[in-house]
Amino acid sequence: MTTLLEVEELSKRYGGLQALARVSLSLGEREILGLIGPNGAGKTTLFAAVSGFVRPDEGRVGFAGRNVVGLPPHAISRLGLARTFQLVQPFPRLSVAENVMVGAFARHPAPRDAHRHALDVLELTRLDALATRPAHTLSVGLRKRLELARALATQPRVLLLDEVMAGLNPTEVDETVAVVRRVRDSGVAIILIEHVMAAVMQLCDRVAVLHHGELIACGAPADIARDPAVVAAYLGEEIH
Ligand SMILES: Nc1ncnc2c1ncn2[C@@H]1O[C@H](COP(=O)(O)OP(=O)(O)OP(=O)(O)O)[C@@H](O)[C@H]1O
Ligand SMILES: [Mg+2]
Repeated sequence: MTTLLEVEELSKRYGGLQALARVSLSLGEREILGLIGPNGAGKTTLFAAVSGFVRPDEGRVGFAGRNVVGLPPHAISRLGLARTFQLVQPFPRLSVAENVMVGAFARHPAPRDAHRHALDVLELTRLDALATRPAHTLSVGLRKRLELARALATQPRVLLLDEVMAGLNPTEVDETVAVVRRVRDSGVAIILIEHVMAAVMQLCDRVAVLHHGELIACGAPADIARDPAVVAAYLGEEIH
């Protein structure tokens, strides 16, 4: 399998807190890699460091044939890596389609082309029926899906999804699982930060586990679920 993204020994410290400690992982073409770990484990920090929003203290992020550490977020996005944010912030007064066009403009400067591409993305993410709705009228679940669509509209080869299923009801989780599968089938590789274990187990080819900034396990979902180090990390929480 071709490796699209190679994170090597990535470290990030905030004052006395080691948010990431020499984390290494790779992502293959069309792979869905789950990234799990208790609150504060460093998952979002890893996304921020990979996508250029935070500068790691040490380490390397190999993407598109180069080390992208030090490049600004827009340059990394341009190379084909997109992320969503844990706190979703669509433009509230713009319509769903217009929000997605904001992402589409990155590759389609002409409004007509951006609009056409946005409609394709809305179809793929099953938001087409809501195209003209103002974003602020959407439920939390649909807002999360819109965040996914906005990131996808930049036409990434690698998509980083930060808890797009948090706060969703079971039906919405099922819909989002189906959408993530469609996105992968369209040729995008995905890293999925998620606390909803049922979704992680269904979707992911491999699962990586962070704990206190360290990668403590990485492997097939079924093996991860019964890994003693993983179970211990989640002690006091429930892992299904
Ligand atoms: N900008 C920052 N300044 C200082 N500390 C930070 C900063 N960003 C994150 N941290 C700390 O780094 C640690 C890792 O945070 P991070 O947001 O990466 O965790 P997470 O695994 O995404 O957690 P959650 O599951 O709650 O989203 C936490 O202890 C957090 O408080
Ligand atoms: Mg987080």
